[in-house]
Amino acid sequence: MTPPLDDIDRLMAVMAAAFDPAYGEAWTRRQVEDALVIGNCHYILVDATGAAPAPDTPAAGFSLSRTGFEEEELLLFAVAPQYRGRGLGKTMLAMLAADARGRGARRLLLEMRRGNGAEALYRQFGFTPIGLRPNYYRMHDGSRVDAITFAATIDPAND
Ligand SMILES: CC(C)(COP(=O)(O)OP(=O)(O)OC[C@H]1O[C@@H](n2cnc3c(N)ncnc32)[C@H](O)[C@@H]1OP(=O)(O)O)[C@@H](O)C(=O)NCCC(=O)NCCS
Repeated sequence: MTPPLDDIDRLMAVMAAAFDPAYGEAWTRRQVEDALVIGNCHYILVDATGAAPAPDTPAAGFSLSRTGFEEEELLLFAVAPQYRGRGLGKTMLAMLAADARGRGARRLLLEMRRGNGAEALYRQFGFTPIGLRPNYYRMHDGSRVDAITFAATIDPAND
């Protein structure tokens, strides 16, 4: 089912604010809509308090993930700059783990550009590196950066 338009508007507003254009990581609205229409992708939106945003309230953060067999892959994860450092990222990872477990996942996966400070958050949550794609990402300036794949087990004891 296609999500309500205002949810996509709010998600895209965070996307525009959160991703540095130098890395080319932000998705277009069309990419997000296409992912959500397929049915195996899920999103979380939070406001500045970590709750689901009320209809007339902007989002402070979002995640977009894809469900696979016993795995949930985090595709996009962002908090708008003015709301960072107050635990919203941590809150969304916990929400994602609970949702993913409800969908039958036993682990979370994500791929990260080497050097992204978000690694500290992921490691805190229990993610560990499981793979490397050398020079996988091409930066806006043409340089290349490795992609690191991380996984976290989400058995009940991990919450
Ligand atoms: C990654 C991101 C979502 C983190 O959001 P956040 O709400 O600031 O994260 P939290 O406040 O929950 O941080 C939790 C912990 O992780 C640490 N952390 C989070 N992001 C960090 C960063 N970029 N650099 C260093 N530490 C970071 C925090 O310091 C905090 O540590 P503490 O508990 O010891 O205080 C946010 O920085 C962001 O949107 N970045 C741009 C988009 C991006 O790179 N997304 C990830 C793609 S893989």
